[in-house]
Amino acid sequence: KTVAIVGCPFSGGQPKAGVDKGPIHLVEAGLVNQLEGLGWKVKFDGHHLFEDINAQDDPPIGILKNPRLVSRVTQSVANVVGDHIKNGELPVTLGGDHSLAMGTISGSLSHHPNTCVVWVDAHADINSIETTESGNIHGMPLSFLLGIGSSVPEFDWVKALLRTDSLVYIGLRDVDAGEKAILRQHNIKAFSMHEVDRYGIGKVVEMALDHVNPNRDRPIHLSFDVDALDPSVAPSTGTPVRGGLTFREGHYICEAIYETGLLVAMDLMEVNPSLADSVSVEQTVAVGCSLLRSALGETLL
Ligand code: ARG
Ligand code: MN
Ligand code: MN
Ligand code: MN
Repeated sequence: KTVAIVGCPFSGGQPKAGVDKGPIHLVEAGLVNQLEGLGWKVKFDGHHLFEDINAQDDPPIGILKNPRLVSRVTQSVANVVGDHIKNGELPVTLGGDHSLAMGTISGSLSHHPNTCVVWVDAHADINSIETTESGNIHGMPLSFLLGIGSSVPEFDWVKALLRTDSLVYIGLRDVDAGEKAILRQHNIKAFSMHEVDRYGIGKVVEMALDHVNPNRDRPIHLSFDVDALDPSVAPSTGTPVRGGLTFREGHYICEAIYETGLLVAMDLMEVNPSLADSVSVEQTVAVGCSLLRSALGETLL
């Protein structure tokens, strides 16, 4: 069993500097050793610098910001993640902003077309070109993957291979009006913080998996935005929203998905070490590493 760390210092899907430093901090905190300690062979050949990708001349397309850069970087991530899966490795992608998931999930689907996605986030990241108010592509990757809304030729490489019934959310609490309409219109299953409060995290994860993976036989891609956690637990992130998952709730999700034995790829996104004081940064980086350990088999006993 081999994990491949895909470090993606990339921030082009949103406007705040610093999220590109997230993967560097996670690795410097000792992630590789920690995963080796769980019995994994860990491949890490340095962060992906995307040096070959230049999009100097990258004016907005409509409202979309940095469209060419985001497209080229995510396409390259899709190839890297897809190749790792083909080699029988489990890619763990460290962001960077959540636009990267356009790449990681495309990579998973390229090898396992039957992959389902568990998206853990305060946000739905499903704005379409028609609904986005910010133009920040990190708020949009799922609409591209699902083929919702209009398309632009720059993103032609993204094949809309994800079905709306193969996606489930946990942790939502800041969903734009246009996104709510999309979720309703496409009947996309979401467990917001309201459902976490009502049923408890154990029941929510069970219901989420029952929805996308009733027979527990489909590969699972876990895309974890660190802002799903409450800002008191993970303060160093670009778009914090109060009322989030506790430390244990976040870890429980990762543990339960590990227990299925079906995890084929994981993302940990939106750690931004330049937002907040050094104690908060250390805390956020540590919680990021610990979520990854839980998803890769660390147990409490
Ligand atoms: N919904 C907002 C937008 O479209 C915020 C998205 C935040 N996304 C994230 N990956 N943190 O811009
Ligand atoms: Mn690599
Ligand atoms: Mn988010
Ligand atoms: Mn997100």
